[in-house]
Amino acid sequence: MDGHAEGGLKNVSSVCSISEMDDYNLSRLLDRPRLNIERQRSFDERSLSELSIGFTRAHLDNLESTYSPGRRSGFDTPASSTRNSFEPHPMVAEAWDALRRSLVYFRGQPLGTLAAVDHAAEEVLNYDQIFVRDFVPSALAFLMNGEHDIVKNFLVKTLQIQGWEKKIDRFKLGEGVMPASFKVQHDATRKSDTIVADFGESAIGRVAPVDSGFWWIILLRAYTKSTGDLSLAETPECQKGMRLILTLCLAEGFDTFPTLLCADGCSMVDRRMGIYGYPIEIQALFFMALRCALAMLKHDEEGKECIEKIVKRLHALSYHMRSYFWLDFQQLNDIYRYKTEEYSHTAVNKFNVIPDSIPDWVFDFMPTRGGYFIGNVSPARMDFRWFALGNCVAILASLATLEQSAAIMDLIEARWEELVGEMPLKITYPALEGHEWRIVTGCDPKNTRWSYHNGGSWPVLLWLLTAACIKTGRPQIARRAIDLAESRLLKDSWPEYYDGKLGRFVGKQSRKYQTWSIAGYLVAKMMLEDPSHLGMISLEEDKQMNPVLKRSSSWNC
Ligand code: GLC
Repeated sequence: MDGHAEGGLKNVSSVCSISEMDDYNLSRLLDRPRLNIERQRSFDERSLSELSIGFTRAHLDNLESTYSPGRRSGFDTPASSTRNSFEPHPMVAEAWDALRRSLVYFRGQPLGTLAAVDHAAEEVLNYDQIFVRDFVPSALAFLMNGEHDIVKNFLVKTLQIQGWEKKIDRFKLGEGVMPASFKVQHDATRKSDTIVADFGESAIGRVAPVDSGFWWIILLRAYTKSTGDLSLAETPECQKGMRLILTLCLAEGFDTFPTLLCADGCSMVDRRMGIYGYPIEIQALFFMALRCALAMLKHDEEGKECIEKIVKRLHALSYHMRSYFWLDFQQLNDIYRYKTEEYSHTAVNKFNVIPDSIPDWVFDFMPTRGGYFIGNVSPARMDFRWFALGNCVAILASLATLEQSAAIMDLIEARWEELVGEMPLKITYPALEGHEWRIVTGCDPKNTRWSYHNGGSWPVLLWLLTAACIKTGRPQIARRAIDLAESRLLKDSWPEYYDGKLGRFVGKQSRKYQTWSIAGYLVAKMMLEDPSHLGMISLEEDKQMNPVLKRSSSWNC
């Protein structure tokens, strides 16, 4: 627990905090040792080449003429409203106001954003907390707007929280575990702020968040990239934080797969939804976090050992994912014709998947052109469901090859009604119904078909879709999705999720003024206006990772 406060809660005052930050950054820049400046330059060079990946010159020209990328934003106004050559959408200003209303201060400094600021909601549950995963789009919006201090404060504070001893009942969690969420408690009489964190011991289902640590590493890189300030990532604390997170995942044991074995509910889908095993959402984030850490870890004694393990794991992980999680028309046809009970190294059907277990819907869903990473692969089990976050992150991290990335975008275009419908974007497709819903979710009334995690539509995913669209050179798809969001989000007071096959209804138990719906929209808008922001959250293909044998004809057509 933290001790006494230096000041009370501060009211939202963007102008003041931004100008303070400006001074602060300037003095730090002047102080920066020469070595850092040199290294920063190489980081920036990488950033440019990373940005160009997936973008043909024509695409860039096209975007440049419309959105004039590259101009820096003003500090005291949201970037979107200063940079446009056309009138900004009125929603942008509303979104910034709503985002600022969600700010949380710790001892006078901005620290993060609340999950939701819904005064009309009957139960607060834990929506009055700062969630690590929910803060990511907020952080990106602030970074894109030149407001770096809140992101730095968040990164430093969560790192301190990571150092706390974590116990569930009498069982101690690994040192590296990052909290799912935390809360600033303000004592008005004592004038003190303290922090209470949840590592899963209060969460429904008592599951520790596997994604939090990965998002932390990804955000540290985004911060470094956006500010050019390597000094934070280079601190012994950050270096140790990264190593601790990854040590949890890189230990050798009984695993025969390079993927990470997880409990149900350990990610954004934080309730029982049949994602236990090797969920794509976690594997894609794991891959991205490994690559981000690789770029930031120092080659000192402790770092070196970790780096070696990361390199080996990345190799194996990309091979495994690209080979066994990838599904396109050709691959589906191959699985449909699989022989079973094959023994020894010559087996084609390595995991003994029984073709009868392929659900009917997937035969109709799979277009001739297109493909995606399926939800899960483990012995005799392939979860064919589509998960949006995992697939978009796979594109951003270059876990997907260039061909696979293009195929994912082809699928989204071909199955627009199913995956986007009237509100971007389905968290997963299709929904579990009837008997399957009963068995897999344990009769969860919050996750009924086409609601919440079970096929609900989550506006927050818009920023991931937009980033993936820009990276694959298809900004027009993002534009289409943003138009859909703009037709309803503000009117409906920024819901957490929508229900229904087409996402037409505001979700049954959806919060209003859900912060990541607001921030996700802003990030999508800013990225489309200035695609150079993509570099913060995207990694170029690493040629060292051997591409797997191409088995699919759809990759080439
Ligand atoms: C819900 C979501 C989770 C999110 C949290 C706070 O529990 O499932 O992903 O982090 O709300 O918004």
